[in-house]
Amino acid sequence: MNGTQTLDGKTAIVTGAGRGLGRAMALALADAGASVALAARSKNQLEAVAVEVEHRGRRAIVVPTDVTDADAVQDLVDTTVAGLGGLDILVNNSGVIDSRSLLEQDPTEWDRVIATNVRGTYLATRAAGAHLVPQGSGKIINIASNFAFQGVVNHAAYCASKAAIVAFTRSMAVEWARFGIQVNALAPGYFATDMNAELRADPEALAKVLRAVPARRMGKAEELSPWLVLLAGPASDFMTGQTIVVDGGQTAR
Ligand SMILES: NC(=O)c1ccc[n+]([C@@H]2O[C@H](COP(=O)([O-])OP(=O)(O)OC[C@H]3O[C@@H](n4cnc5c(N)ncnc54)[C@H](OP(=O)(O)O)[C@@H]3O)[C@@H](O)[C@H]2O)c1
Repeated sequence: MNGTQTLDGKTAIVTGAGRGLGRAMALALADAGASVALAARSKNQLEAVAVEVEHRGRRAIVVPTDVTDADAVQDLVDTTVAGLGGLDILVNNSGVIDSRSLLEQDPTEWDRVIATNVRGTYLATRAAGAHLVPQGSGKIINIASNFAFQGVVNHAAYCASKAAIVAFTRSMAVEWARFGIQVNALAPGYFATDMNAELRADPEALAKVLRAVPARRMGKAEELSPWLVLLAGPASDFMTGQTIVVDGGQTAR
């Protein structure tokens, strides 16, 4: 796998870029040559990642954005095109999880998960598409999850949101293939980030979870990023609507 192919001259938006997998993916795109617009709500985290991108000799802009807010997402795309001179790659990575049983979960929490994970992906795709469709090229990579393909106790909202992302990926792929736009998804398994900090702090719960992973460990961000770089570059020019699962074998069981 050639994870170091050049994205020289390309411009990417990464949502949820302030920490975790989004930060790692923004840095991988920069390593491959892209300029990066960094979006999330926490400005200080984005600013720290911008410094890391600039240390790699690439341009970065920080655009504080709540992906559930249509106006803010439109502003993200407009600011990127104006500030970085274009848009070629959108990574829809922002996401939240809720780990309560359905009866304990308030409808507000259900809505928060669906709004962030599904509406956020839809809004950013729509705003970016208005630029990419007339341009006649573009790469959209949506971050799903192995939970899109598995029933998981206490995670109905999250599983439903990630299955929606897989279905949305397929639909947008066929809708925009004629415009030279490829829409694919990555489905990570367990990767150590803030999202699962509580789980990792509980050795018994962690051991139980890892028993379901044939590799018997969590993934490292650098084991996900090369797939992102492939999907963001010419290697995926004839590949669209697909979801690549990177989960240590969890869904292969
Ligand atoms: N870690 C895993 O094991 C794993 C497994 C499968 C899939 N994933 C998926 O990978 C993606 C990244 O997860 P992660 O583990 O890196 O989680 P994380 O460390 O919690 O980071 C989540 C990112 O999303 C941003 N975000 C949350 N709500 C947002 C909103 N309303 N608007 C804009 N940005 C928002 C957060 O920034 P702010 O809070 O500052 O807005 C943060 O930058 C998610 O889609 C997640 O579902 C993760």
